[in-house]
Amino acid sequence: MRASRVPPPAFDVVGDLNVRIEDVVDREDLFEMCRSAQALFGLGVRVYSSEGALLANEGRELSMCGLVNETAAGRAACGATVNRAKSVDPLSSAEVSDGYLARGRALGADHVVHACFTGLAYRIVPLVYETRHVGRIVLGPYAPADMKEAPALLVRTLPTLDRQEANARLLGLPRFEPSALAQIAQHLKTALEVIIFSSHKAYLTSKMHLYSVRESYRTLEEKNERLEEALARLKELDRLKSNFLGTVSHELRTPLTSIIGYSEMLADGIAGPLATEQAEFVDTIHRKGEQLLALIVGLLDLSKLESGTMSLRYAPMQIGPTLKEVVSTLAPGALKKGVEVELALDRTFCELAGDAERLRQVFVNLVDNAVKFTPKGGKVTVTATVRTIEPGALSEVRGTSDVDDIGIVLLAAPHLDQKAVEVTITDTGIGIPPADRAKVFDAFYQVDSSATREHGGTGLGLSIVRRIVEAHHGVVSVQANEPQGTIFVVTLPSAHARRVMPSRVPPAVRP
Ligand SMILES: Nc1ncnc2c1ncn2[C@@H]1O[C@H](COP(=O)(O)OP(=O)(O)OP(=O)(O)O)[C@@H](O)[C@H]1O
Ligand SMILES: [Mg+2]
Repeated sequence: MRASRVPPPAFDVVGDLNVRIEDVVDREDLFEMCRSAQALFGLGVRVYSSEGALLANEGRELSMCGLVNETAAGRAACGATVNRAKSVDPLSSAEVSDGYLARGRALGADHVVHACFTGLAYRIVPLVYETRHVGRIVLGPYAPADMKEAPALLVRTLPTLDRQEANARLLGLPRFEPSALAQIAQHLKTALEVIIFSSHKAYLTSKMHLYSVRESYRTLEEKNERLEEALARLKELDRLKSNFLGTVSHELRTPLTSIIGYSEMLADGIAGPLATEQAEFVDTIHRKGEQLLALIVGLLDLSKLESGTMSLRYAPMQIGPTLKEVVSTLAPGALKKGVEVELALDRTFCELAGDAERLRQVFVNLVDNAVKFTPKGGKVTVTATVRTIEPGALSEVRGTSDVDDIGIVLLAAPHLDQKAVEVTITDTGIGIPPADRAKVFDAFYQVDSSATREHGGTGLGLSIVRRIVEAHHGVVSVQANEPQGTIFVVTLPSAHARRVMPSRVPPAVRP
């Protein structure tokens, strides 16, 4: 059972428009901007997120702040001021009057001035992007242009502080006019908003790219799942079909054997003499019965090969005697048709580990085809040569036959010379068009499948041939015989080559 997949989150357009500076802007860019502002204007700059997290900070301690920070009380008061400055909402028009703030945000103004108990001040500017508040810039502390001396609040907060020294330090600081501060703030605000805009654009683009890749991946995965399911269904159907063919063929064979047997007895006159016409009818019954039996035997063979229940008896053997027997069996019939069958054997000795009976069936099928599809006056030549094969050679041969479902790769070490027997069945017949060469190995496939076709047969021969050859770790392929005819090539690894092969057996065949 397949585990149900959790679908990936959809592209959240609205969520991704709710930009957070910390998500989209590179911190180093923010620091760079703060550093250049400090260098240009001599003004400390901090950038906070809308939730109050400090994102960038650049500033040097002012001499007045140094004086205040000398005492613990001064440090505490300074910390409290900074904390308040951090939490001021620059978009709120409410006056904040906790005694530390000199001014709130004037109605319509785009900033808040937050006063420090020392007389210094902070200017807090909201950052707005796509009508949303995304953070703030805090400028300062700075000495306002209208500051005259240390305020009474300083004396109340730090009564022991040297007031004279404080005044001297305060008055020694550069002053900032509100208009200059407004310009600096505007400049920084614009620069930061441009950075946010371009960073957000890049962020959205990369996110959309990511979503589209994820979406394609998901679609692909779904298609794969559907394909896998279809493949499993097809395999199951194929298995059912093989079982069905096997059962039906088996059940047909018994009554058919009786039909053939009784028609033979009738023909032999065991049940009394037959008139000429009766003898002809009985002969037809006998011939058709034999044809039907051949078909049923073929179907049974194929079904056993496909289901892996055919038992092959491998034994040391030579291909020569098998081929001689095949040729001597089929040559007389061929000669009657006007087709010559010739056998040319290589003398080199090569031992195979094979099932001689099944290999005989392979070559009977191939030579029978060659004779069947070669017109009168033609020639069929069967040759057997021993050749050295290289690692992977058998898989290459398979490639030429366009049969790519089960790969057999010979992985013998390159220095070991491996031998194989190559049997070719060459005819000068009608040939097989290139587009049909891979298909002829499929069960029931015939190049001419019309009702008026000249040659008999059911189209099972080559599919059985291929299964048996593969069970021997070999390959069968087909080529054109220029200018006319067909060449079938069967390559069977020697017994030694088979021993060093990885135990890669076609799944459907259990020898
Ligand atoms: N030597 C050949 N020359 C031309 N066509 C061939 C040759 N061998 C096979 N074919 C083509 O391949 C088809 C399939 O061959 P296959 O041996 O599987 O079936 P068949 O000969 O038609 O029937 P069966 O072998 O089951 O009696 C043939 O029908 C024919 O079209
Ligand atoms: Mg055939």
